[in-house]
Amino acid sequence: MKEIKFDFNNFFSSSVGSIHGITRKDWGKFFPAAQKAQKHLVAVITNPQNRVALSLEWANLPDQDKKVIAYIQKLGDQIAEKYESVIFLGIGGSYLGLKAAQDALCAPYYNEFAPLRHGRPRIYFEGNNLDPETLSALLKNLNPRKTFVVVISKSGETTETKAAFALVELWLKKGAGKNYGRQVFCITDPKNGTLRKKVDAEQARDVLSFRNLPLLKGVGGRYSEFNMGLLHLAIVGVKIDSVLAGAKAMAQKCSGREISRNPAYMYGLLSTILYKQKNKPITILMPFGEELKSTADWYCQLLAESTGKKYSRRIKVNANGLEEWLKDENRVVNTGRTPISTRGTNDLHSVQQNNIEGENDKAVTFIRLEKFSHDLKVSGTNDFLAGKDYSRLLCVAQEATEWALVREARPNCTIILPELTPFYWGALLFFFEMATAFEGELLNINAFDQPGVEGYKNYMYYKLRKPGLPAAISADIRKHPLKKIARYII
Ligand code: PA5
Repeated sequence: MKEIKFDFNNFFSSSVGSIHGITRKDWGKFFPAAQKAQKHLVAVITNPQNRVALSLEWANLPDQDKKVIAYIQKLGDQIAEKYESVIFLGIGGSYLGLKAAQDALCAPYYNEFAPLRHGRPRIYFEGNNLDPETLSALLKNLNPRKTFVVVISKSGETTETKAAFALVELWLKKGAGKNYGRQVFCITDPKNGTLRKKVDAEQARDVLSFRNLPLLKGVGGRYSEFNMGLLHLAIVGVKIDSVLAGAKAMAQKCSGREISRNPAYMYGLLSTILYKQKNKPITILMPFGEELKSTADWYCQLLAESTGKKYSRRIKVNANGLEEWLKDENRVVNTGRTPISTRGTNDLHSVQQNNIEGENDKAVTFIRLEKFSHDLKVSGTNDFLAGKDYSRLLCVAQEATEWALVREARPNCTIILPELTPFYWGALLFFFEMATAFEGELLNINAFDQPGVEGYKNYMYYKLRKPGLPAAISADIRKHPLKKIARYII
């Protein structure tokens, strides 16, 4: 079986020169830190207690209980058989992985054409915004009797998901009758949160209502596609086993001790050298092909929420070797590369101009597919394009983009997928997860929390008068109101 390949050539000075590319000296400077990071990450991941407590349990997800997987696969088939449409409600890590899977592993135009769905339901994603337009259009047009709803929220408290579910629940109740709860499935924390409370109460009334699956302990939202995304895969008919097998193969590949042979560590390390030593704080992910655009969006969240941190990490180790990761409030670092999601060839007529001639402050990561499940030939005879395969045009376009970047000394690398199957897609996701965890180690930050998103949430709660908001937060908001000087509004 072919393997995913990682071509890091154009990250190095041998391709893009020593001002923008990594030299032997740069490598030598960062390598000891990489060895230290490797040692620590491996130690945390191999200790089950640390793994769960520090939110690294995602690293174990490729090895899930086969019986649970078989149960979810069957459940997905049952739902798919019975319903015309399924709405998934969730945001952030409770949405982006599912959307990435939908676009990468289901046929393009899946919702539009029945034969492409192989008898399975249409899929809609909602609750990932507070925009009233999309949800109202959807509910006006779907038949509540023929719609199944999956609510995903680890905390069970997220405003977007909660607000959407309140509406969808009412719509179902009105349209499907008193047993509407049998058309609702919840994926949430096994113990905590308002969604969990609701699930328990509904289940006590009727076990077929508000069926549910727990989110595993120690798996954070953005690292949870192989946990909270599984029911979605089953409903659309993707073999979960194949996705997990790909993730497992990548986990093995990324467990090698030799850093220069370990793709995830290499990606994290080289990106960090480019960021810190060569002033490349921006990373552009550019898969060549529409199907992987949502996977690039998923990676944007993974990188931004994981490594975009204000404070450095302070590690406290107790007598049993268990770690606690604290914010080191004395060390403000404001760190983390800024991710941008694009796709070739579409964005060659857009951001590529800036990639080539704008500030040389970016590193580009291409994803290239070697084989497509369908191909086309350009028709006609009187043109140089005539008779050429689309897949070849796309591959040449990627190579050409790489060449153009190298000519302008712009660092880039290419991930080469033999084809876009559940196996390789699972492997790709796991690679990015491990690379991001390693990058977090190198930056010495906590890559598994997201304290920065609390600010906007607290302000919203304050404005919307959410009960129980701590007095100190309300006082802080009152003390620092948004300033609106009239002359700056024109
Ligand atoms: O990665 C994360 O933890 C976040 O992006 C969450 O997934 C997101 O905020 C949604 O949270 P929840 O699943 O609790 O509704």
